[in-house]
Amino acid sequence: MTEKFVVTGGAGYIGSHVCVELASAGHDVLVIDDFSNSHPEAVRRIQEITGVDISLLEVDLANPANLPKVIESVGAFDATGAVHLAGLKAVGESVEQPARYYDVNINAALTLLRALENAGAKKLVFSSSATVYGDLNESPVNETGATGAANPYGRSKLFIEEILKDIATADKDWRIANLRYFNPVGAHSSGRIGEDPNGVPNNLFPFIAQVAVGKRDKLRIFGDDYPTRDGTGVRDYIHVVDLARGHVAALDYLAETKQGGAIDINLGTGGGVSVKEAVAAFKRASNRDIPFEIAPRREGDIAEIYADTSLAKDLLNWRATKTLDDMCADHWHWQRNNPNGFKS
Ligand code: WQD
Repeated sequence: MTEKFVVTGGAGYIGSHVCVELASAGHDVLVIDDFSNSHPEAVRRIQEITGVDISLLEVDLANPANLPKVIESVGAFDATGAVHLAGLKAVGESVEQPARYYDVNINAALTLLRALENAGAKKLVFSSSATVYGDLNESPVNETGATGAANPYGRSKLFIEEILKDIATADKDWRIANLRYFNPVGAHSSGRIGEDPNGVPNNLFPFIAQVAVGKRDKLRIFGDDYPTRDGTGVRDYIHVVDLARGHVAALDYLAETKQGGAIDINLGTGGGVSVKEAVAAFKRASNRDIPFEIAPRREGDIAEIYADTSLAKDLLNWRATKTLDDMCADHWHWQRNNPNGFKS
């Protein structure tokens, strides 16, 4: 059944892929984005890929002065639900600017909730993160694992998860899924949308891709003395298209379930890949050399984390299908075709 979904942060890396999958599944989409860490060109390309018109509201969700405009737009769009991805997401920056991260991330969520409440659209998928698990659990980590983020970015995700649980407890009409992403990488097979980080990439894959395309000289591997199979950090990399399809599956579940509440769900592959294994895979995909040097460990990094994905399989009938080689091939296809991202 066609529904009408708001996608906040819909011009961003994950948001644009979520919009493609929602539009391709026949839903109407309203993107709310302030383009502070994304580009209007991404919205145009979502339309190019899907052949579907995407509605757009350019506004800073975190500014309370915009609440009336957001309420009015979401109501006029006649939304039936939302995917909330808008927010600040740089771990290191959050350590330097904690108040800004709590202010922006929590206020953006509260503004959206007010607008959805007003529209009677009480279905919400929230972009959470495996960073909420900190270094507190053995892998594979399941959703009952201990939580305790190690930085303000991760704590803002955890606080919003708790706010959503309180709201769903107070009003049984709310149906909420907190999707805990592991490490999203890759790009749509068209090569027309993908990750386009501002400045120097914090994350591994965009950095490797920029080395491969010649934009960066070499990769610094942050530590090779971790207690892992090759000494480098192990993560659960998941193709961004698999991740986006997990959002559609979660919205379908929320539409069908009679059960109110807020539920935490891991979105990962269930496998771990080391930094050196990722570099080797990217070299295979790009046929480019990826020079690297071993650098000191990065503050806040953990040795290993990967997901127990059984809940997503059992509840959403969803699992990741794309391989590490698919992730590298698609990431490279995007990077090579868009060496400067959306900035033409
Ligand atoms: C992966 C591995 C690094 C860069 C973070 C956030 C998480 C989510 C994804 C937003 C680690 C190593 C990295 C580099 C390296 N972000 N690395 N050299 O830290 O697992 O997760 O990004 O939602 O919330 O916490 O991802 O890609 O930064 O690092 O050696 O230049 O690559 O040490 O082992 P991370 P990452």
